[in-house]
Amino acid sequence: MDRKHSFEPSVRTGESLTPYSSAQETDDRGMAFVIPQALAAICQGRSDGQEWLSRLPETVRRLEDEWALILGAPFDGAEVSCSWVATAALPNGEQAVLKVGLPHFEGEQEIEGLRFWNGDPTVQLLEADLATNAMLLERCKPGTALRSLPEPEQDAVIAKLLRRLWRVPSAPHGFRHLSAMAVNWREHTLADRESWPDAGLVSEGLRLFAELAAPAAGDVLLATDLHAGNVLRAKREPWLVIDPKPFIGDPAYDATQHLFNCEERLRNDPRGTIERFADLLEVDRERVRLWTLARAAAEPRDDWANWKMDVARAISR
Ligand SMILES: Nc1ncnc2c1ncn2[C@@H]1O[C@H](COP(=O)(O)OP(=O)(O)OP(=O)(O)O)[C@@H](O)[C@H]1O
Ligand SMILES: [Mg+2]
Repeated sequence: MDRKHSFEPSVRTGESLTPYSSAQETDDRGMAFVIPQALAAICQGRSDGQEWLSRLPETVRRLEDEWALILGAPFDGAEVSCSWVATAALPNGEQAVLKVGLPHFEGEQEIEGLRFWNGDPTVQLLEADLATNAMLLERCKPGTALRSLPEPEQDAVIAKLLRRLWRVPSAPHGFRHLSAMAVNWREHTLADRESWPDAGLVSEGLRLFAELAAPAAGDVLLATDLHAGNVLRAKREPWLVIDPKPFIGDPAYDATQHLFNCEERLRNDPRGTIERFADLLEVDRERVRLWTLARAAAEPRDDWANWKMDVARAISR
């Protein structure tokens, strides 16, 4: 199956994107500009997505010149959704990656986060263009995702990485607090009230969001999107973190993204899975249970009929 969409740079806002079978569309240098399928689909579903896509080829070409890059084909597949990412060779022969992120609330401070973590244990930020949310990143080689390992091995690697990531930025810093994410999610979920399958459980989840996200003494900088697709095999270290979405808050929150990526285990044995991972992280089991419950019950979603409500019910008492 052809999984790629190519994209004509002159497409204007409002025109629909069409899947093409090959690189027939060209940009002003006569080269194909390929848009991964999932990214094209996400952009089509957002009011500002088409406009962002229409500017993307120009942004990429400008950065290619400014940073003297030789770009390869963009990454595509299940792990690419909110960004255009391609391999990039530097003039000194170093291998890097160019990432241009579709602006979205959770990912707004990826550049600041990568600066803070400074390669420990994330990829290094080599260059950044804040205006276009573009990054030149250290390339992980071979770059195999941690998802290729069995889940119990993923648990151990992710627990170690999270415990290294959890540091306190010195003041003043511009990182947002997790309570801002909780407010954002609450607004979206409340706006979708007619889709709720269980008003009592969703309301309980919303109440928990507010309670758990309140600023506290043990708050640290969180990755908030650390799952086995965002951990890649590298040479400088066995595994490096990509794609962090930094917020200040409760470390127990950071357990949840990996847990939701382990759907089968979470559905079959929600309490055991939560408790074992909380122990590896050395965070409070009860807070991980409550965060998992809050997200499963009340996080905004397209499909309220999915399995997360069952998990919420199973761990609600
Ligand atoms: N530094 C890197 N080294 C090697 N490959 C990378 C690097 N950064 C990104 N990639 C590749 O690009 C893919 C997408 O990157 P990333 O997860 O940052 O984008 P995203 O679309 O924002 O992801 P998400 O869907 O999680 O929001 C990765 O799964 C990986 O294959
Ligand atoms: Mg990712």
